[in-house]
Amino acid sequence: MSSVLGLDVGTSGTKAIAMNAEGKLLASALVEYPLYSPKPNWAEQDPADWKRAAFDALKQLAGRINPREVKALGLTGQMHGSVFLDAKNQVLRNALLWCDQRTADQCAAITEKVGEKRLLEMVSNPALTGFTAPKILWLRDHEPALYDRLKKVLLPKDYIRFELTGEFATDVADASGTLLFDVKNRCWHKELMSVLGIDPEFMPASYEGPEITGYLSKDAAKKTGLPAGIPVVAGGGDQAAGGVGCGIVRTGVISASLGTSGVVFAFADTVSTDPEGRVHTFCHSVPGKWHVMGVMLSAGGALQWFRNTLCQSERAVGEQTGVDPYEYITAEAAQVPVGCEGLIFLPYLTGERTPHKDPYAKAAFLGLSLRHTKAYMARAVLEGVAFGMRDSLEIMRGMGITTSEVRASGGGARSSVWKQILADTGRVPMVTINVDEGPSYGAAILASVAAGMYANVEEACDAIIHETARLEPNPKNLAPYDQWFKEYQAAYQALAPSFRRIASLL
Ligand code: XUL
Repeated sequence: MSSVLGLDVGTSGTKAIAMNAEGKLLASALVEYPLYSPKPNWAEQDPADWKRAAFDALKQLAGRINPREVKALGLTGQMHGSVFLDAKNQVLRNALLWCDQRTADQCAAITEKVGEKRLLEMVSNPALTGFTAPKILWLRDHEPALYDRLKKVLLPKDYIRFELTGEFATDVADASGTLLFDVKNRCWHKELMSVLGIDPEFMPASYEGPEITGYLSKDAAKKTGLPAGIPVVAGGGDQAAGGVGCGIVRTGVISASLGTSGVVFAFADTVSTDPEGRVHTFCHSVPGKWHVMGVMLSAGGALQWFRNTLCQSERAVGEQTGVDPYEYITAEAAQVPVGCEGLIFLPYLTGERTPHKDPYAKAAFLGLSLRHTKAYMARAVLEGVAFGMRDSLEIMRGMGITTSEVRASGGGARSSVWKQILADTGRVPMVTINVDEGPSYGAAILASVAAGMYANVEEACDAIIHETARLEPNPKNLAPYDQWFKEYQAAYQALAPSFRRIASLL
């Protein structure tokens, strides 16, 4: 039975999956690794960890399927991260990640040099701390000895591609998140690179999502147990590949993914930008198409922080009973009234992109009183993240994007309590689909197109993805949530000056 593979170089681990031509999951493997935060607001990973994990996950997969029947491998991964290589293709330092916030000065310098409006015209996005270009300038400004040796800049999954195939390549969706890519024309923006003094040779060749970028090398074949010569497909940044994995390949359907980050993702037939740059406009992994997305930096990550910091008892009971502690936490939250009697949680644990573009934003519980228990705080976290997702929905509605239903994905979408809150706060039905393998599944779909199993990405998605359940908004919660959403928005506006002052004190 022919199969295709998807490999997702994620933030908490690397996941490999195998599926057959009908989209049935045949096997999967996950290998985790640490995230380092050597200073406040810094987030780094060691590309050697990704490499070990990718080879290990593929090897586990090869042991569970017939490796000779693998027709193609698609790649995906966390976006924006910077792998800096020297002339001998050695990694110069740990990679700066998408959630790293150290580059505020470089973003300001880029915006000043190019002009905010012109930058949006050139690359369809503003300079944001998570993006790759400011990371390159940070290396130049702070570690000039390493910058002098810099020869290549690769995104996380593209470093793994290099290790698997020996080729330097990326895909148009991931390239869009570097701030150096002409999103409209789907090619590197040489003029912008020249203005910023960034050598165009740093960047790899770019391909559309289902294109073949190289073939599994003999060395990689030996290490993984897969046959040499398997086509390795461009794939996509994790959000675009995740969009494909949820079937977001036509106008009108949007998705909300609740992983560490929270993303509202919409398909676009043409390039459409928010004049304030609050949502990102990137190339899609569907050739010749685009997507618009709002990105919250801490969504599932906020609930994970809450669980790790305040829910020792739920974790202890979970260990004894084998029940996921999140089930206890969300069940407690379900008992609390809508709006948490005025307790508001701002989820900006690692700054925020959409809608604030503010690396200095911080999380906060606002409105605590004697009546508020931990269950109230849990619900406030779920509601705060949902309000953040509504911020993205509102911006998209303002851009004329249809948001008539949302497909839910990611770990957070397993909670029906959270999904109902998302439906009620966003005033939109939440739809569940038959697969929930995330970006790795989308990468495998792109590989299936490259392998000739389907004529194009749309045909593949139509054949293998369908809706299985739908949660309608509860009419009685809509007006109360509209009111609390206004307070949530006002809370950030009131606190933003404090966040800046606090940052300057640190
Ligand atoms: C997207 C983004 C994150 C990472 C995390 O712009 O920064 O979703 O890709 O995986």
